Amino acid sequence: MTMSMVELETALRGLRLSGMSGTLQARALQVAAHEMDFIEAFSWMVQDELDRRRSRLLDRRYALSGLPERKNLKSFDWTYNTRLPKREILELGTLQFIDAREDVLMIGPPGTGKSHVAKALAVMAVDRGYKVFYREAHQLVEDIAEARELRGLRLYRQQLKAADVVLIDDLFLRKLPPQAGDELAEVLMSRYEKASTIVTSNRLCGAPHNRFNAERTVTQS
Ligand SMILES: Nc1ncnc2c1ncn2[C@@H]1O[C@H](COP(=O)(O)OP(=O)(O)OP(=O)(O)O)[C@@H](O)[C@H]1O
Ligand SMILES: [Mg+2]
Repeated sequence: MTMSMVELETALRGLRLSGMSGTLQARALQVAAHEMDFIEAFSWMVQDELDRRRSRLLDRRYALSGLPERKNLKSFDWTYNTRLPKREILELGTLQFIDAREDVLMIGPPGTGKSHVAKALAVMAVDRGYKVFYREAHQLVEDIAEARELRGLRLYRQQLKAADVVLIDDLFLRKLPPQAGDELAEVLMSRYEKASTIVTSNRLCGAPHNRFNAERTVTQS
C-alpha cells in the first residue's frame, strides 16, 4: 500500500510527528534527486522531528518564564557601557551559580544595563534547560496580591519555589505597597540556599539587607 504525499503528511501530523511531516516533501526530493539514500533521508527526518520538539519545548519554557526578550550574552554589546564588570558578568554566564544555588544582586546607577545583563543570564538559563521565572518587582508584588485574592497563593508560591532561577527585576524602581517588603522577603527566604534568585536594583536605600544575603553582588561604579 502506498500513501500519497498528502496522506503521509496527514498521518505524520496525526501521530504528532509534525517535524517529520514538515520536511517530508523536501526530503523526498533529495532522495529522488539521488542526493540521499532512504536511510540517510529518514535519519534527517528523525533529526527534523527532534529539532522541532526541542524548539517547541524552548518556546514553552520561554512563555512560562515571563521573560520579555530572548537576547543572550553572545550578542551583548560591551561597548554600550564600558564600566560594566565584564569579568564577573562572563563568570556568571557559566551559570554555575545556579547549580551552587547562589543568589546574585546587581546594583548600579539607572540605565547602566543591569536588567539587560540579568535578562541575558536568565535567557541563557532557559536555553540550558533551567526553569526560570522572571518578574519586575512591582509585578511580582501585584501577582502575589492577586493570587491571594483569588485563593491561589499556595499554587503561586509553589510555582516560584519550583523555579531554578527567579529574576526579580528593578526592585524599588516603582513605589511598592507597604506589604511588599514582607511579600518579597518571603519569596527570598523560601528560596535561600535552595535555589538561585537574581535581583536588580538601582537603589540600595530601603533594600532588605538583613533579609537578603547575596553570595554574589555585582556593582557598577
Ligand atoms: N549592552 C547593551 N547593549 C545594548 N543595549 C543595552 C545594553 N545595556 C543596556 N542596554 C539598553 O539600555 C537601556 C537601559 O538598560 P537597562 O534597562 O538594562 O538598565 P538598568 O541598569 O536596568 O536601569 P534601571 O536601574 O533604570 O533599571 C535598555 O533599553 C537596554 O536595552
Ligand atoms: Mg533595570
